[in-house]
Amino acid sequence: MSRVALVTGGTRGIGAAISIALKGAGYRVAANYAGNEEKAQAFSDVTGIPVFKWDVSDYASCAAGAATIEEALGPVEVLVNNAGITRDAMFHKMTPSQWNEVVNVNLNGLFNMTHPVWSGMRDRNFGRVVNISSINGQKGQMGQVNYSASKAGDIGFTKALAQEGAAKGITVNAICPGYIGTEMVRAVPEKVLAERIIPQIPVGRLGEPEEIARCVVFLASDDAGFITGSTLSANGGQFFA
Ligand code: CAA
Repeated sequence: MSRVALVTGGTRGIGAAISIALKGAGYRVAANYAGNEEKAQAFSDVTGIPVFKWDVSDYASCAAGAATIEEALGPVEVLVNNAGITRDAMFHKMTPSQWNEVVNVNLNGLFNMTHPVWSGMRDRNFGRVVNISSINGQKGQMGQVNYSASKAGDIGFTKALAQEGAAKGITVNAICPGYIGTEMVRAVPEKVLAERIIPQIPVGRLGEPEEIARCVVFLASDDAGFITGSTLSANGGQFFA
């Protein structure tokens, strides 16, 4: 029987590409989403991937969501913590809610979603947790003190939990995408993107969501069992961690 993979934020952007790639690799995929029901249903209709709505910033919703998926599809053996948001603002203009919203989804979401499936992975002596961090968690980014802090936290989470999972056959890794051509990046002011960001990418272009999805498929595979606690940078040469 093929493995079950849960992808948070799995119906749009990088997450949609991850869900599709994992399905293509033979996993039974469940895609979580928090927002637009219509878009999520359209994604499900096109891909045949079932979608499940809850907010990763809420622990009880994550626990209930994980239980629903385990009942519908079976134990979650691959968890991709992909859901993430931006609330960009210069620090002197940043509000407490812009800080809290980002930290609650991007960092607390990893605790909320991983904790409910962790005991099962330990019991079965197998698991793959892949956390989608960011280049901006590695290097910091002006206008993103909240996001950079949350994504750096994801890397610390990954390194610590990897040590706990290693003896139980569970790997925990982070991927740090650079600037990928998704709605999130397209929301950056056009002038900033064209004049400040793309010129800093040595390959001279934004990344494709599928380029991140292929990294996930590899880290989820049995072939990647010796890789844990690592940070895989996929950023077109913009930053060497
Ligand atoms: N890199 C370099 N310079 C930047 C920059 C960036 N990413 N973002 C802003 N700046 C510069 C602007 O060009 C501007 O410079 P000038 O005054 O010389 O023109 C200065 O900073 C102030 O910027 P704004 O005039 O835009 O100021 P604002 O207060 O209106 O807006 C902002 C500030 C909200 C931070 C806006 O500039 C912005 O959204 N910047 C993009 C921030 C960014 O890089 N976000 C990444 C989103 S993608 C993502 O997060 C995915 C991922 O993981 C990589």
